[in-house]
Amino acid sequence: MKNFDLKILSNEPVAEKIFKLILDAPELAENSRAGQFVQVKISDEFTLRRPLGIAGNLNGKVTIFYRAVGRGTETLSKKRGGENLNVLGALGNGYSTPNGKVLLVGGGMGLAPLLCAAENFNSDVLIGGRTKAEVIFWQNEFKNYAGNIFITTDDGSYHKKGFATDLLPEILGDYSAIYTCGPEIMMRGVAKIALNNNLPCEVSFEKRMACGLGACLSCSIDTADGRKKVCKDGPIFDAKEVF
Ligand SMILES: Cc1cc2nc3c(=O)[nH]c(=O)nc-3n(C[C@H](O)[C@H](O)[C@H](O)COP(=O)(O)OP(=O)(O)OC[C@H]3O[C@@H](n4cnc5c(N)ncnc54)[C@H](O)[C@@H]3O)c2cc1C
Ligand code: FES
Repeated sequence: MKNFDLKILSNEPVAEKIFKLILDAPELAENSRAGQFVQVKISDEFTLRRPLGIAGNLNGKVTIFYRAVGRGTETLSKKRGGENLNVLGALGNGYSTPNGKVLLVGGGMGLAPLLCAAENFNSDVLIGGRTKAEVIFWQNEFKNYAGNIFITTDDGSYHKKGFATDLLPEILGDYSAIYTCGPEIMMRGVAKIALNNNLPCEVSFEKRMACGLGACLSCSIDTADGRKKVCKDGPIFDAKEVF
């Protein structure tokens, strides 16, 4: 883990309130893996850094997708190409390198770290969203890297109507593992189906963080192996450990 002052190459909206940030970051890209995150210093006004997942690490660039939900991410969304951004990274453990093709299952901003997994591993992806507008830009991002792309929308406005967990049992093929990230209720459902089918499953946990370095305990959770820190021991956990 290192502290980097990185040049912003672009920081553009891709959907309502969702931004794609691309950083010129050869050393960070080289030393990061799918599932890890960075702690972003928004500006001198903010004492606490904000954790954001690494969504891409190819060609010397680090890509991040973030939703502007509060003061920090709103301020970040105002930054422009050419400005610098201070980040600490890469933090956390990351997904394991799979033995074969992996199925990625995600919803909402949980698709961001899975996009990096699609770049790094042989994979198919199952994208779940509420509406067509919510999933279409993810489909465009994943089509450069994932093999098959399966999509569900809650309202049936695009591809299969229903939740990702409704379609999952139908598409389970010859996968070596399932990696999931998104709302906890979705990850629980995915983990249950994976374990019923004897497939290893890794889930990505999100907790409000302060230090991001394992020092303050603010991100502790209970696991089958006792208390763990999401920032240091995670954010990726074996589903058996946490569900
Ligand atoms: C390991 C990790 C990786 C993350 N990766 C991403 C990512 O790739 N893209 C992305 O958009 N977001 C990601 N998040 C969530 C992101 O860190 C928060 O949305 C951000 O810190 C909010 O800061 P803010 O100042 O804009 O909002 P605040 O003003 O601090 O809060 C505004 C709202 O956001 C909610 N919020 C704040 N922090 C979190 C959090 N950690 N989890 C869920 N809700 C939160 C608050 O409850 C509140 O309702 C990640 C979080 C973690 C822990
Ligand atoms: S955020 Fe401080 S220990 Fe995890």
